[in-house]
Amino acid sequence: MAAEVESITEAQRAIDVVHLTKIYHTTKKEIKAIDDVSLHVDPHEFVSIVGPSGCGKSTLLKILAGLDELTEGEAKIFGEGITGPGEDRGMVFQAYTLFPWLSVRKNIEFGPRLKKMPVKQKREISDYFLKMVNLENFANAYPKELSGGMKQRVAIARALANNPKVLLMDEPFGALDAQTRSDMQQLLLQIWKREKTTIVFITHDIEEAIFLSQRIYIMHSHPGRLADELNADLGLFDGSELVKPAEFLKLKDYIVSLLKK
Ligand SMILES: Nc1ncnc2c1ncn2[C@@H]1O[C@H](COP(=O)(O)OP(=O)(O)OP(=O)(O)O)[C@@H](O)[C@H]1O
Ligand SMILES: [Mg+2]
Repeated sequence: MAAEVESITEAQRAIDVVHLTKIYHTTKKEIKAIDDVSLHVDPHEFVSIVGPSGCGKSTLLKILAGLDELTEGEAKIFGEGITGPGEDRGMVFQAYTLFPWLSVRKNIEFGPRLKKMPVKQKREISDYFLKMVNLENFANAYPKELSGGMKQRVAIARALANNPKVLLMDEPFGALDAQTRSDMQQLLLQIWKREKTTIVFITHDIEEAIFLSQRIYIMHSHPGRLADELNADLGLFDGSELVKPAEFLKLKDYIVSLLKK
């Protein structure tokens, strides 16, 4: 009976990573990028993964996106083994990855166009997401005319326009200035609450992880291993205002101490 209950829970998980190891083979050596990592993300959860440079964060996300293969273990999405990219997952990277030859609107409509949606429906989708990311006035602009924050808003809109169940974000705000970054964090939280997307968010900014997430996985490097899993859903913020500074600092200090080990 216990086994049955366990298997139902596992099938309902948005992401389930079980004893995952990733080894890269270069001409000179083998690099163990990820060593026996197990983690999960439930539907509608906002989970961050924090860790130093080289601990395998991007590698893990690429495996979840189906853009890279694991060496050992399992990576599942809603109970199914991940075998390649799929519409159920949207990706937002740190580097700006818009199509430079397409307008903002056409970038957002890219996924719907691949699905051969009728013009009217595509338009409705792009209108909806342009509004969501406050870029209605830039529908016809091209990526080179946009600031970094605006480009990332288009990237988020483009990922969401595909109606993914899971949004995979690899340091999406890493290149932004502090104010824009803070605005983007709040926008992302609004979108997450409204769309009920499941989000896996990679960052090496501890405060960003605490502000955004319900749970945080901390990783160590060389090889990339899991150090701890923390609950960050502690009512530390009311909107963007920090209302429990002592608890916030305690959590932050603990994560810093883990990363120093
Ligand atoms: N294609 C590849 N071939 C060989 N080694 C790789 C490859 N991609 C990543 N690695 C190695 O795997 C390890 C993890 O890299 P990864 O990019 O996942 O780290 P990261 O945690 O995302 O770091 P950062 O915070 O700097 O983005 C590193 O040692 C890296 O050199
Ligand atoms: Mg990375």
